[in-house]
Amino acid sequence: MISALRGMKDHLPPSGQTYEYIIKICEEVAKNYGYSFIMTPHLEQTALFRRSVGESSDIVGKEMYQFIDKGENDVCLRPEGTAGVVRAFIEAKFDKAGGVRRYFYHGSMFRYERPQKGRLREFHQFGCECFNEPSVYEDASIILMIDEIFARLNIKTTLKINSLGDSECMPAYRQKLVKFLDEHEAEICEDCKRRKLTNPIRVLDCKEQKCQEIYKDAPLIIDNLSAECKADFDKLQEILTANGIKFEIDSRLVRGIDYYCKTAFEFISDEIGSQSAVAGGGRYDKLVEYLGGKASYGVGFAMGIERIMEILSTREASAKREGVYICALDEVGLEHIYNFGINLRKKYKTEISYEARNLQKHLKNADNKNCEIFLCMGENELKEGKIWYKNLSTKDERVLNLDELQGVLGE
Ligand code: HAM
Repeated sequence: MISALRGMKDHLPPSGQTYEYIIKICEEVAKNYGYSFIMTPHLEQTALFRRSVGESSDIVGKEMYQFIDKGENDVCLRPEGTAGVVRAFIEAKFDKAGGVRRYFYHGSMFRYERPQKGRLREFHQFGCECFNEPSVYEDASIILMIDEIFARLNIKTTLKINSLGDSECMPAYRQKLVKFLDEHEAEICEDCKRRKLTNPIRVLDCKEQKCQEIYKDAPLIIDNLSAECKADFDKLQEILTANGIKFEIDSRLVRGIDYYCKTAFEFISDEIGSQSAVAGGGRYDKLVEYLGGKASYGVGFAMGIERIMEILSTREASAKREGVYICALDEVGLEHIYNFGINLRKKYKTEISYEARNLQKHLKNADNKNCEIFLCMGENELKEGKIWYKNLSTKDERVLNLDELQGVLGE
């Protein structure tokens, strides 16, 4: 038997329906916030991710689905959505045209990680990217938007925020941090020694307990912010507080991707174990320029759909009954109900049974398929132009004239 690849998952019903449900809510909220749907390719040039996500990140360093295609192009399955959207924005010359543009997307991302609960090699994200908006009100709006999505899904999360500074304050901070790391070179882990050379701030979220003990005394970026970054970070907190959003400042939150500046945030859930980040994002004001476009502001986020599905799956399944189940007790009735059922399908979700069976078997089948309305044609009903009706939610049952049915089923 050929099985699915490790870390890749089929979403069969009802999990497929949970996916649809989550995306529907995300889309509704994103549209209310002025975002429009965008699709970009799953396969891009590897250079795009090397330059944006960054050479020092685990994603580029260890996790890329990279290969040389038949035309000798170095290509890669997208590990995240932002880089492709930025490339599309530049390629469409929107950087030069100016004006604020807001996009949302959803679909597969690929990271060759060690699979575990909540960590897949193919997973799905819903994400938003906003271009050309320098105001920290947009950073706040994005956080409010995610909060609204989780509220509609009835999911409780903790929000962690940080500021990663900008090109004015980050270089001086980095120097301070490297000096600190030099002083502790003998004690830090091998990964942190490598990070010191590639992207020193990534040491701050090292998972080694020994390193974390040492970094308790490390200089922190939020104590070294430029006046502009500090003002924006203060304003962000003020807007969130004014809108009733609770948050924690996590000065060690550095994110696993190199393109961020200023605002960085993550939403954490305590319902899904160690892979607890359900959404993350922040500002990336240098990325458009860095990928060859005209300097344009950027801010966005992405949420992991499988992790959200995992939270929803632990809840009591209370799938609402829906749709019609139509069936017959004998072969003659079958032809009638087939034509009738096809007509119902123009308006209602309709399950037509192609088999003549006894009433109990049909009722069991309709119940298994979670249908709400049960319609059955027996010998008597057929003779009299009637149909037996039962509402499987309310248990209301009667024999109806076929022309009465529309009124009972409703719009
Ligand atoms: P990220 O934090 O790498 O950010 O991913 C966002 C979310 O995707 C995570 O919070 C998590 O829920 C989910 N996720 C990541 N890796 C996996 C995995 N292996 N299996 C399951 N779920 C996963 C980004 O990707 C940025 N592009 C977000 C962004 C958009 N920043 C600005 N704009």
